Amino acid sequence: MDHVFSRRDVIKAVAAAGAAVPVFSIPSAAARPTGKVFKVALVGCGGRGRGALKNCIDAGKHLGITIRPVAVADVFADRASKMATTYSVLPERVFVGFSGYRDVMETEADIVLMATPPNFRPLHLEAAINAGKHVFMEKPVAVDPPGARRVIAAGELAAKKGLGIVAGTQRRHQAAYRRNAHAIANGAIGQIVGGTVLWCSGRLWYRERRPQDSDAEYMVRNWLNFNEMSGDHIVEQHVHNIDVANWFIGHPPNMAIGFGGRARRITGNQFDFFSIDFDYGDGCHIHSMCRQVNGCYTRVSEFFTGTEGQTWGNGRLKSTNDKEIEIPEFPEHGGPYVQEHTDLMQSILDGKPLNEARRVAESTLTAIMGRISAYTGQLVRWRDLTENKKSPFYSRALTPTAEDFESGSVKAPEDDVIWTPGKA
Ligand SMILES: NC(=O)c1ccc[n+]([C@@H]2O[C@H](COP(=O)([O-])OP(=O)(O)OC[C@H]3O[C@@H](n4cnc5c(N)ncnc54)[C@H](O)[C@@H]3O)[C@@H](O)[C@H]2O)c1
Repeated sequence: MDHVFSRRDVIKAVAAAGAAVPVFSIPSAAARPTGKVFKVALVGCGGRGRGALKNCIDAGKHLGITIRPVAVADVFADRASKMATTYSVLPERVFVGFSGYRDVMETEADIVLMATPPNFRPLHLEAAINAGKHVFMEKPVAVDPPGARRVIAAGELAAKKGLGIVAGTQRRHQAAYRRNAHAIANGAIGQIVGGTVLWCSGRLWYRERRPQDSDAEYMVRNWLNFNEMSGDHIVEQHVHNIDVANWFIGHPPNMAIGFGGRARRITGNQFDFFSIDFDYGDGCHIHSMCRQVNGCYTRVSEFFTGTEGQTWGNGRLKSTNDKEIEIPEFPEHGGPYVQEHTDLMQSILDGKPLNEARRVAESTLTAIMGRISAYTGQLVRWRDLTENKKSPFYSRALTPTAEDFESGSVKAPEDDVIWTPGKA
């Protein structure tokens, strides 16, 4: 069988062809104004922050909810002001600097959108949950094991307080991925025994240091190239594909062993490529590979082999069994970047707020586990990062920390000085 979907022809056709995602629109009644208003604040007014706020507003239109931007924060005044002007945020609600997020939490915002570099996420999330805010936070959500554990703890507190947390691993809100995940969970390809997840692409942007830059300013402007800010690209970018592996298999891996290197980078201290074997137990291994080098073969995808078939992450699924699996209609209005906001707000309205903190923290930590293995040349176990306090990896925090930025004690690492496997 080329597919397992039997309830509706349209789904059959899509599954068999691995074709484009159909849009299942919620009945038009959903778009009627509900009179509901969500007040929204944004922390981190860069590219994704701008996108996330627009996606949130589009989701509000779809649900018939008014989205009112009430506060913005950014380290840099010009970025915060530009966003405030676009969305008519009052000047007294424009917060600047590393502690601006604290002022945001004092406002009447219902939902806080977080799109700073990832090293700030645990601190900002804790503040938001303590202040009783629902959160949309961009991935990844930490850069080191202590940070990932803080996010899990904040997620548990959010659950107790009835607060929603949705993360920007948007594949979880993408209909084609959800259909395959549902089919796999219902036995379509048996048990997953292996696979490959990839993010191989060209180089992203970098900023060179200007004479006037302080250490903190340089690191923030060039955050995508310092592992202390981004987690390295295995965490910052490849987390999307690793998240799909954890999702489809149903749990994070037991251990990682891998390697990587730096060949072409110009600034910062990241590697250019990683190759990691994630051992999920029961004989299941997933090869994760990611590269950011221009002029090389590019591919971004996920592929899994099961005992009874095989599947791409969001494409063709082939089954060798004859199970008939009913696939629900997974909504995807406006694409996954909008759908994730729709799902968050709908869940709040329904009184059952989504809480994705643990699963995105675990996917972030999986990527961190791979990075630590590549940087040190060691085998790294999941329990070394989650429970074994005697492990040298358990409490290893990357510095400068988010708190160092806030207290003004930032010393930037030297450019081009990297981890040496076997010596770390
Ligand atoms: N889901 C996706 O597909 C996707 C795509 C792109 C980026 N992202 C994620 O979004 C986040 C932001 O990425 P971006 O591309 O928008 O980066 P960016 O550099 O364009 O924007 C980051 C903004 O945050 C501000 N900032 C930095 N530290 C801050 C702090 N402590 N407090 C307040 N503001 C602060 C910066 O000044 C900047 O304006 C990252 O975590 C990134 O991985 C996700």
